Amino acid sequence: MQLCLKLHLVSLTLRFGLVLGIFIAPRKDVPVIAVGFNYDTIAKVEANLLQIATHSWELGTAAQALTELHTPSISVFEQTGFPPPSNLTTVEGNATALLNIAYHTRDQKNVNTLTLIDGDGAVGDPASLGVSILLANWTRSNLSDLSFAQDARQQLTYLTDIAPRTDDGAISHRNDQVQLWADFVYMAPPFIAYYGALEGGSTEAKLLQEAYDQCRLYRNYLRDPTTGLWNHIVLGNGTDFRLWGTGNAWAAAGMLRVLETLRHSDQSFSFAAQQADLVLWIHEILVASWQYQQANGTLLNVINDPTTFPDSSSTALLAAVTYRLATRTGNYTLIPNANSALTVIRNSVDENGWLLNTVDPETFNTPSLPGQFSPEGQAFVLLLHAAWRDFNEYLSGTLPA
Ligand SMILES: *[C@@H]1O[C@H](CO)[C@@H](O)[C@H](O)[C@H]1NC(C)=O
Ligand SMILES: *[C@@H]1O[C@H](CO)[C@@H](O)[C@H](O)[C@H]1NC(C)=O
Ligand SMILES: *[C@@H]1O[C@H](CO)[C@@H](O)[C@H](O)[C@H]1NC(C)=O
Ligand SMILES: *[C@@H]1O[C@H](CO)[C@@H](O)[C@H](O)[C@H]1NC(C)=O
Ligand SMILES: *[C@@H]1O[C@H](CO)[C@@H](O)[C@H](O)[C@H]1NC(C)=O
Ligand SMILES: *[C@@H]1O[C@H](CO)[C@@H](O)[C@H](O)[C@H]1NC(C)=O
Ligand SMILES: *[C@@H]1O[C@H](CO)[C@@H](O)[C@H](O)[C@H]1NC(C)=O
Repeated sequence: MQLCLKLHLVSLTLRFGLVLGIFIAPRKDVPVIAVGFNYDTIAKVEANLLQIATHSWELGTAAQALTELHTPSISVFEQTGFPPPSNLTTVEGNATALLNIAYHTRDQKNVNTLTLIDGDGAVGDPASLGVSILLANWTRSNLSDLSFAQDARQQLTYLTDIAPRTDDGAISHRNDQVQLWADFVYMAPPFIAYYGALEGGSTEAKLLQEAYDQCRLYRNYLRDPTTGLWNHIVLGNGTDFRLWGTGNAWAAAGMLRVLETLRHSDQSFSFAAQQADLVLWIHEILVASWQYQQANGTLLNVINDPTTFPDSSSTALLAAVTYRLATRTGNYTLIPNANSALTVIRNSVDENGWLLNTVDPETFNTPSLPGQFSPEGQAFVLLLHAAWRDFNEYLSGTLPA
């Protein structure tokens, strides 16, 4: 309701600006705003996500989606998130569902392992819950309770000191062999960077650099020089040399969270060059992906392989990243692609709040079976909605009053 009103105001202001061009010079590059989701649909998508998310990475991605959706002021996309307030009663929005994930993770944690949750052999995936654990620590009311801080520290230790690495320092995504998956970039580097940003001082500098280095190294290994897109899995046994849509989306979205964490940290100025690189690397994936966008807005499961099926999961997350990067850079060139992706995603959420036409997130190469849905796909819809909403707020803020 409120949003509709705001959109009308934006379009009115635009038209007014065109008529009275002498007084108000409208930005000639202000893009058309796509119609967004309706709020009842988003509520259903969220309820379904919370019902079916069980794996480490699904819960971590859900926690991030809930943060961006309900309490954006404590997300990495806003300066007010650094550091988060110690008392959540001052925060606009409802952090209950987000904190429930963190509390549940803490309560279920195996005290004999360093990782936050069992990762089925994955190094990166448990770390995806790390940001929510750090938020729970920072905002806890019981200051004698050090459990969240300890759990987060152990998870970081596992990543930085124990997990296998390549000779040049890329942390393996698997614990039994050195193997790099594009997925890792959303799971671990955002946690490493966020931990650093809250820590301050030389530890902060070290961890911000580590998060950046992981993005850099992963890109070196995974990037396909012909297209600029990333392969899914390299090194070791069980490689997947395909330009998987969701893999590219994880990589772009993970680098975006690292970028925003560097940017809003108190050492932002020392990391200007790293931020510039990350913008280029995210942009590289977006430009390459949208070149393969189908007429109705969707991407295919293997982005450059026309024999593969349309996949709404990767389409949703890459559209979310596109809105967010445009919010950061002011470059609107790819907004028409994001708008058309948003439209196909809106039309792909059924009346019960399930995202249809997803890839099965566990096979990577078959569509979800009828009646089965993708937990991460549900989260990507929420991330897309939040990114679209924040882009609109950004646009209305930059329009002449
Ligand atoms: C906050 O969210 C929780 C669960 O997500 C819900 O039970 C509660 O009613 C919400 N509180 C308010 C004030 O909306
Ligand atoms: C946990 O929160 C406290 C503030 O209550 C903060 O001083 C500490 O650094 C936090 N721990 C971590 C690991 O972020
Ligand atoms: C948080 O702030 C509220 C309102 O100002 C206050 O009632 C509450 O006691 C505070 N909680 C903590 C743990 O400081
Ligand atoms: C606060 O946390 C400490 C340490 O875990 C615990 O012993 C204590 O019972 C907690 N206090 C409350 C009020 O929950
Ligand atoms: C490689 O992995 C497959 C299962 O993915 C397994 O059957 C095979 O034994 C493995 N090969 C080696 C050399 O580890
Ligand atoms: C979008 O177009 C593709 C063909 O490129 C088609 O297979 C798919 O069903 C369409 N998706 C929707 C939601 O209409
Ligand atoms: C904006 O992005 C497009 C590609 O999407 C690129 O060609 C163009 O150079 C960028 N503009 C600026 C000002 O960076």
